[in-house]
Amino acid sequence: MSKDLPAVSPETFSLHGGYDPARSEGAVKPPLFATSTFAVKTAVELAGWFRQAYGLDGKPPSAPDGLIYSRLVNPDLQIFEERWSVYEGAEQSALCASGMAAIVTALLTLCRPGDTVLYSVPVYGGTDYFMEHLLPAFNIHTQSFPVTASGEDVTALIAQCQHDDQKVKVVYLESPANPTLSLADVGGIARAVHALGALRPMLVVDNTVLGPVFYRPMELGADLVVHSATKSIGGHSDLIAGIVCGSSELIAGVKATRTIFGTMADPHTAWLLLRSLETYKVRVEAAEKKAEKVVAFLRVHPTVEEVFFPDTCGGEQSACARSQCSGHGSLLSFTVRGGREAAYCVLDHLRVTRLAVSLGSTESLAEHPRTHTHSDITPADLDRFGITEGMIRLSVGLEDADDIIADLAQALNELL
Ligand SMILES: Cc1ncc(COP(=O)(O)O)c(C=O)c1O
Repeated sequence: MSKDLPAVSPETFSLHGGYDPARSEGAVKPPLFATSTFAVKTAVELAGWFRQAYGLDGKPPSAPDGLIYSRLVNPDLQIFEERWSVYEGAEQSALCASGMAAIVTALLTLCRPGDTVLYSVPVYGGTDYFMEHLLPAFNIHTQSFPVTASGEDVTALIAQCQHDDQKVKVVYLESPANPTLSLADVGGIARAVHALGALRPMLVVDNTVLGPVFYRPMELGADLVVHSATKSIGGHSDLIAGIVCGSSELIAGVKATRTIFGTMADPHTAWLLLRSLETYKVRVEAAEKKAEKVVAFLRVHPTVEEVFFPDTCGGEQSACARSQCSGHGSLLSFTVRGGREAAYCVLDHLRVTRLAVSLGSTESLAEHPRTHTHSDITPADLDRFGITEGMIRLSVGLEDADDIIADLAQALNELL
């Protein structure tokens, strides 16, 4: 940590926190610590750190006081984790190899065979596959509920599981849901879960889509927040990473699992993320403004049936859920008349926006959730979640908004 850093906001901390240039030849930027292992002064010191890492002194496993090996700790990961924790409003964070690595590491830290996970739907396709197929294969039961469920609905579901002799260990929310952008009432569900007392389930929230500039699930009562840092945190489509954030106690457990599963990020990825974090707030705020203009254009285009954007989702979307975020980010979905053929036609004619999966990057990206990112989900469930044949997901980047709109216009006009 910089010695004379006063109390500062997350965006200032993300430039200076957790790093003292004096320890690295005065380098203003944290160097890339491209090393798998670390030289130690004495064998006794190294033995003590191993005792901490494995929890051999009657205490739970914890981060060792010194650097041993980059699967346990590396300075680039440490600096990033310290900076990100301030952004998210969490005590600690654990940087992982991907968003999926973060989700898997978090849930397998919290759950044991026989436990039950309740999860909101829809969720990202990879998460859906993990919930539907992999957790049950390890005898961890899973049950879905609509992302728009209330706190009372979730309480009733937990009671029903208890009645059926199932122990609910985790309530998992992805909010806003990818790709329908429906928001969960994280605050209401958190209150319901906390009211269950000491043996309550843990509340885990995937905050990938909006991120802490617009949405702060820790403050709403989440126990753990997970991210795909591949998206707006990395922000340049040049890395894959994930983050788990929470209390020091919970993250110590997550890091112990991460060490043995080997799901940590590599030092180069952490170093790239340090670069990305410096412009994080500027990027997400700029992209949001462009997305607002794109939404305004799509809403009145004759080929567009419906536009999904976090604070404009109507229907079941409660005002209460909407009031919990301070912005709507830059991810949107829209449906075109004419189903899959029309959606493919639009995607194939885009020239500025890239036809590619992922989101939150500097360049705009578009895809067809039903047959691309969410294609593992059964047709019946896709219908139930509103992921229709005509739906296109668009992540608005940092190109000039008028150029993005002109590109969309020429592609949509192919349908006229
Ligand atoms: C909401 C959400 N969570 C998690 C993930 C998984 O992240 P990763 O691709 O970094 O493993 C994704 C990927 O698209 C996502 O959209």
